[in-house]
Amino acid sequence: MEQPWAVILAAGEGTRMQSAGPKVMHPLCGRPLLWHVLEAARVLTKKQVLVTGRGAALLKDYFGDGYTYVEQAERLGTGHALQQVLPQLPAGGDVLVLCGDTPLLDSEVLGALLADHRRQGAAATVLTAALGNPHGYGRVIRDERGRVQEIVEDRHLRAGQEKINEINTGCYCFAAQALHALLPRLPQNKVTGEYYLTDLLPLLKEAGHRVAAFLTVDAQSALGINDRAQLAVAAARMRERINRRLMLAGVTMLDPETTYLDVDVAVGRDTVLYPHCIFEGQTVVGENCVLGPGLHLVNTAVENDVTCRQGLVIDSSLGAGANIGPYVHIRPGSSIGAETRIGNFVEVKNSSIGKGSKVPHLSYIGDTQMEESVNMGAGSIVVNYDGRRKHLTQIEAGAFVGCNSNLIAPLKIGRGAFIAAGSTITRDVPPGALVVARPQEKVKKDLAKKFLKGRPKKQGEK
Ligand code: UD1
Ligand code: CA
Repeated sequence: MEQPWAVILAAGEGTRMQSAGPKVMHPLCGRPLLWHVLEAARVLTKKQVLVTGRGAALLKDYFGDGYTYVEQAERLGTGHALQQVLPQLPAGGDVLVLCGDTPLLDSEVLGALLADHRRQGAAATVLTAALGNPHGYGRVIRDERGRVQEIVEDRHLRAGQEKINEINTGCYCFAAQALHALLPRLPQNKVTGEYYLTDLLPLLKEAGHRVAAFLTVDAQSALGINDRAQLAVAAARMRERINRRLMLAGVTMLDPETTYLDVDVAVGRDTVLYPHCIFEGQTVVGENCVLGPGLHLVNTAVENDVTCRQGLVIDSSLGAGANIGPYVHIRPGSSIGAETRIGNFVEVKNSSIGKGSKVPHLSYIGDTQMEESVNMGAGSIVVNYDGRRKHLTQIEAGAFVGCNSNLIAPLKIGRGAFIAAGSTITRDVPPGALVVARPQEKVKKDLAKKFLKGRPKKQGEK
C-alpha cells in the first residue's frame, strides 16, 4: 500500500509556555519538540507538511528543505491549520495528522494507528488514550454501543463528561478524499471563534463516513506539551527511553535516574556511567570508559578506555586511554591526546595535548600545541593573553616544564627542554636547553630571630 502523507500542526501560539520563541522549538533531550514528531512521522510517510505560524523562519532554518512548509497566517485553530494544507494534499490515499507538541508518540504507535485505520476502512481514525488524569485534553464521547460520537474540548465539557478518561491524543488518520469533501465545511466554535479539527468527526459521520478510534496501550506517550511542567514530565519519560535503550546495548548506569543523555548521544558497551552524567548534543562515547560522577560533556568525542571524573568538557575530544580529572574544565577546540593525564583543577582551552603528555595539577593551558610526552608541573600556566590579543604557544615533545612556571606567549619550547620550577619564560627555548628564570635566592644567616622580634606572643609562649 502507498505510504501516507503527514501533516504536522505546528503553528499554535504556545501561549501557555510563556516563551518568546515558538513552542514546538523548545528542546526535549537536545532536540526541538517538533524534531521528535518528525522523526516518528518520517518512518511511515512519504511526504511531510509542516503548518507554521510564529517563528516560521526559525523552523525552516532548523529543519531545512526536506519538508514542505505551509504558513497559517492567522491562528484560528487546529481545523483551520489543516485547511491551509488542503490544496496541497493528494486526492486519494491516507493523511496522518499530528500535533507538533506530542513528542512521545513514536513510529510504533503511529504505525499501529495507520494499520487499524486501514483495517477498519475508516474515513477518520483518531488515536486515543486512557489517562488517569485527563484534565486539559479533549474527551472522546462514545455512544452506548461504543462508537465515537464526538470529541469535546476540556473547556466545553458538559455535566458528567469530566469523568470520561479517554482522551484525544491530537493524532489522526484521514482518508484524503474525506478531507477534501468536508474539511472546508468545518463550523466555527461559538465560544472561542476557532475552527476545531475535532469537529470534523461529527461532520464525517453525518455524511455517512466511518469514524473510528484507536486506543493506544501506551498511554504515557500521549502527553501533549502545553506548558513547561509538561515539558519536564516529557523530558523525564524521554530520558527513560534513551537510558533503557543504552543499558540494553551494554552501558552500565549506576543511577539512570540522574543520567541525562540527549537523544543523539551514543555510548559504547562496557562503559560505566556514574551518577549525574549530563551528555549533550552530538556527544559520542566509546567503549570501556569510566565517566563521572558529575561529568558534563557537550558535543564531545570520547574514545575507548577513557576515565574522566567530575568536570565540564565542551566541543572537544578525549583520546583513547586518557585519564582525566577530577574537576577539569576543557573548553572548546581542545583535543586531549591518547594516554594523557589531565589532573585536578586543570583548565584547557583551544589546545591540543599530545599523546602521553601530563598536566596533572592546577594548570591553565590556552591556545597551545603540545606534542607528546610533555610534563607540565603543578601550577604551570600558559600566559596566552596580554590584555589585548591571544598568542600561541608551542611545546615540543618531551619538554619538562617545572612547577609554577609562567610561559608568556607567543612562545616555543624546544624538544626535550627543561624549565626550572618557578621560571617566567618570555623567549623561545632551544631544544634540549635548561632554563632557570627566577630571582636569585638570598639566605641571611640568623636573621629570622631578629625579624620575628616584636611579634605578638601567642598564649602559653615564653
Ligand atoms: C488539542 C486538541 C485536543 C487534544 C490535544 C492533544 C483540538 C481543538 N484540540 O488541544 O482535543 O486532546 O490537542 O494534545 O484540536 N495549532 C496550529 N494552529 C492553530 C492552533 C494550533 O497549528 O491555530 C497546532 C499547535 O502548534 C499544536 C497543535 O496544533 O502543535 C495542537 O494545538 P494546541 O493549542 O496545543 O491544542 P490543545 O489545546 O492541546
Ligand atoms: Ca497541545
